[in-house]
Amino acid sequence: MCGIVGYIGPQQASPIILDGLRRLEYRGYDSAGIATLEAGEIHTRRAEGKLINLESLLQQAPLTGSRGIGHTRWATHGRPSETNAHPHKAGDFVVVHNGIIENYLELKDELQAQGHTFRSETDTEVIAHLVEETAKQTAGLEAAVRQALARVRGAYAVAILSCCEPDTLVVAKLGSPLVVGKGEGEYFVASDIPAMLSHTREMVFLDDGEMAIFTPAAMRVTDLDGKERQKQSKTITWSPLMAEKGGYRHFMLKEIHEQPRALADTVAGRVVDDQSDVYLSGFELEQEDLEGIEKLFVVACGTSWHAGLVGKFMIEKLARIPVEVDIASEFRYRDPIVSDKTLTVLISQSGETADTLAALREARGKGGKAVAICNVVESSIARESDGVIYTHAGPEIGVASTKAFTTQLVALFLLALRLGRVRGTLMAQECQSLTGALLALPRQVEEALELDKACEEIARDYALASDFLYLGRGNQYPIALEGALKLKEISYIHAEGYPAGEMKHGPIALIDEQLPVVILAPDNDTYEKVVSNMEEVRARGGKVIAITTQTRQELKEKVDALLLLPDTIDELMPILTSIPLQLLAYHIAVHKGTDVDQPRNLAKSVTVE
Ligand code: AGP
Repeated sequence: MCGIVGYIGPQQASPIILDGLRRLEYRGYDSAGIATLEAGEIHTRRAEGKLINLESLLQQAPLTGSRGIGHTRWATHGRPSETNAHPHKAGDFVVVHNGIIENYLELKDELQAQGHTFRSETDTEVIAHLVEETAKQTAGLEAAVRQALARVRGAYAVAILSCCEPDTLVVAKLGSPLVVGKGEGEYFVASDIPAMLSHTREMVFLDDGEMAIFTPAAMRVTDLDGKERQKQSKTITWSPLMAEKGGYRHFMLKEIHEQPRALADTVAGRVVDDQSDVYLSGFELEQEDLEGIEKLFVVACGTSWHAGLVGKFMIEKLARIPVEVDIASEFRYRDPIVSDKTLTVLISQSGETADTLAALREARGKGGKAVAICNVVESSIARESDGVIYTHAGPEIGVASTKAFTTQLVALFLLALRLGRVRGTLMAQECQSLTGALLALPRQVEEALELDKACEEIARDYALASDFLYLGRGNQYPIALEGALKLKEISYIHAEGYPAGEMKHGPIALIDEQLPVVILAPDNDTYEKVVSNMEEVRARGGKVIAITTQTRQELKEKVDALLLLPDTIDELMPILTSIPLQLLAYHIAVHKGTDVDQPRNLAKSVTVE
């Protein structure tokens, strides 16, 4: 939710910041702006709409200066407009901000009474005025920012420049992500790693309640009270190329096609030589903690929550632990029963989702252990958990999650295997056969991707539909939910996922000749039952798009479109059935001409509650 970038060094700041914002545009794209500082003066350029509008503005009216800050916005307070776009300026100070200032109205009233004039409807502008006001009684930018932030309630990652101190950039973080990139005689700051990858791979991850003060030559980190903190930098292994489109028309399509590699990377090094167990570095819970678990919560949002719903099937079957799956924004408010015998698994691609982070704190605060499944290394959720299982999907830029989802399913499967082995519910031989299926999976996903053309043709036939229904049973029901979510978010077509057996209790009334129904019918124990549900749809004139395994070619006679997948074990089948659903949603969106990578109203990483 909003991306911020900052630079201080010998180079021109504006192109560096613009390039960084381009890579953060997935975080918000309703307006953008840059401020640079040169010869003791601050100049800003801001534009409503996507970054391209700011780029054109900068071509007409370039910004010079080797210190700068920039922002790409996802509106929370105040509609998308040039006036509400960041940076926000007050007197000698200019600010960009990601997060929400909860007490901004109170502060605004106070500042207005002191004579400050506000130009925007944003909460952020309060920070600029507060720093300006504080600076009247304090010496220096650093002290003014520190005192101003002490009055602020809410979440923030901020970057601030002042024309009174042209060689200083101050940033601070509480609840919103902020990473520092270290260069040679220069520093970069950004909300996320890809914004800096083309300049440096040496990163410092700031913690909540920390401030960093930069000159081109040095960096100092303190807490909000001014006490110095020692920080280690980490070398990031993602390459800049990983955050490029690589010849694909959209990031989403590239990321769909990257899945064989992403899955293989997530499994790599985690299956022991004789395949009878798995090894999860980072999952550092004691053997007795794992043996003593009586209940598991899986908590996440959106697509990651769908992964959790599939994970429940894996963990209950292989480790025989009862699993409850919660939506993060609900979990923290329902006073969940957590004890030292509960393990909470938080799933988050970004590792920064505010609701999931709050749920993690709730679970740990109640004395339970927590393990994260995250894609972004050193993200807040990863760092605050007792253990972490990283998915090695690489940077996911498309707002619609694809490779992060399937790698989350692999991470959950690895977790289920590990728990099953530790707790003695899974024998070595059975584990060998399950890991064998896991190791074969990337190749099978490659095969599933060959359905691309077929999905494109189906998309052409159904792109004008106004509604879709997705049906599945057992561990395919969450995939029905995920297929519907993918379609909704990128094509704006209304879609619902439903348990196939539940259809007759209501949604069957929706079925007519206009309604495409996507049915997930892999060859498993409930295959016959799903086929009966499919007949119920056909009998009412619904159009059936069926997804099954190559062993069930006979369905061809009964459906309007059939997509055949290779067969695998039931636990891993959801990974294969996800692939045609991703492709179908993608091609329908392309036919409709929507903005696939940056769908309206959405942001990749939801760092506000
Ligand atoms: C998926 O396509 C979505 N854009 C969204 O539901 C996402 O999965 C959700 O916001 C959770 O994000 P996280 O995995 O980064 O926590």
